[in-house]
Amino acid sequence: MSECPANPQTISDVDIFAPETIENWYPTYDLLRKEAPIYHVPGTKTYFLTRYEDIYHVLRKTDIFRRGGGTSRPLISDPEALETFKEGWPKKTVLGSNPPNHRRYRDMVDHFFSVIGAEKQTDLITGIVNELIDRWIDDGEVEYVKSFAEPLPSMIITIMMGFPLEDLQNLKVWSEAWVAPFSLQLTAEEERQAARHMVEFQHYIHEHIDQRRKTPGDDVISYLVQNPVKLKSETRMLTDAEIINMVDHLYIGGNETTTFALTSGMWLLIQNPSLQDDLRAAPEKARSFVEEVLRLESPTQGMDRHAAEDTEIAGVHIPKGSHIHIRYAAANRDEKQFSCPVDIDIDRENAHRHLAFSLGETHCPGAGLTRLEQTIAVQTILKRMKNFSFAPNKNTFQHHLNFTLRSFTDLHFTFDKI
Ligand code: HEM
Repeated sequence: MSECPANPQTISDVDIFAPETIENWYPTYDLLRKEAPIYHVPGTKTYFLTRYEDIYHVLRKTDIFRRGGGTSRPLISDPEALETFKEGWPKKTVLGSNPPNHRRYRDMVDHFFSVIGAEKQTDLITGIVNELIDRWIDDGEVEYVKSFAEPLPSMIITIMMGFPLEDLQNLKVWSEAWVAPFSLQLTAEEERQAARHMVEFQHYIHEHIDQRRKTPGDDVISYLVQNPVKLKSETRMLTDAEIINMVDHLYIGGNETTTFALTSGMWLLIQNPSLQDDLRAAPEKARSFVEEVLRLESPTQGMDRHAAEDTEIAGVHIPKGSHIHIRYAAANRDEKQFSCPVDIDIDRENAHRHLAFSLGETHCPGAGLTRLEQTIAVQTILKRMKNFSFAPNKNTFQHHLNFTLRSFTDLHFTFDKI
């Protein structure tokens, strides 16, 4: 254990798994970027990357740096939890697979969530944003995570998938169970619980697949049961296991990370009254603000690849089979890529070049949808409220203890209704 992981002065202080580091990653990123950009995590076969150009290289070389093949630590290792998975369908996420078939699965879903697909949801999103705000605007105070940042993306993705809104409570439990292992901090009992919930969710999706085969609608599941996937070797209907894996991946993707981005965005906005004025004067710039939030407080801090062969990154030898942990969030604050990287600049010309959604073929399919949700949320909040302040004595400003994802546990603020 290092002396001071929260604010390491030398590489020997760095401890990427320490809770203090996870609460505030940025000093660690700054030090690693400068002194050990291809950081070999002691006692592991993981290389932790923090520089934009190196991460860019890894993301472009998809033939060498492949997905699958493990993470810095196993997400679930408890034997009873692993046994529980046998009661469901193999967790083989076809959307998280590798080229060439990866693209064929993506073609099945991209049109729902891309910029053009997402725009079809503008009225739905605007309606739900206003409906949620109506519930608490007369109170003059809100706990934003539970009252807005969680329900907004959950309701949208629930409707798009064709699940009933009455199931939201269960869906939230399953959704949280799916991302919980990425914390790399679960106890054995928590792993078992997460595994049970993941399998329950699979069975729930399976029931909906059966229903949609009988009575299709215009939702994502109906599309997936009715249309063939054009794989390299064959064109065929998707199997139940493939649909389950696509739907749970999309559902969770559409949920948790957007909650995190909405919350961090509000936290940044409250601290910057002049930025609020600028965005009220030019509401179209809310879109650029959203890019800056994603860059500065990237909800997905990093992801893993493995080296399919012996290779080199920036002159460092990487043996075949190594894990490469790419820290999007560190790249997004790399001053060689973004000038004055810790400033919010809604006129930043290359703001959209952040890596919060990854890059290239594995680029997040939900980027269009989440950008639109966040933009409409910011515009509507600034139109309907003013004079924001953090509610006194209520905020911990603590983040979830999660190695991969970054978000506040809660956010209380006061405001005046306009
Ligand atoms: C702020 C919100 C979001 C962030 C920061 C985010 C981030 C990411 C990142 C970084 C990846 C790439 C993972 C990798 O490099 O292997 C990814 C992939 C993915 N995301 Fe998102 N995402 C967000 C919202 C969404 C939404 C709204 C959806 C669904 C509608 C979604 C569904 C997915 C799926 C299915 C993948 C896997 C895609 C593939 O590998 O082909 N995400 N996301």
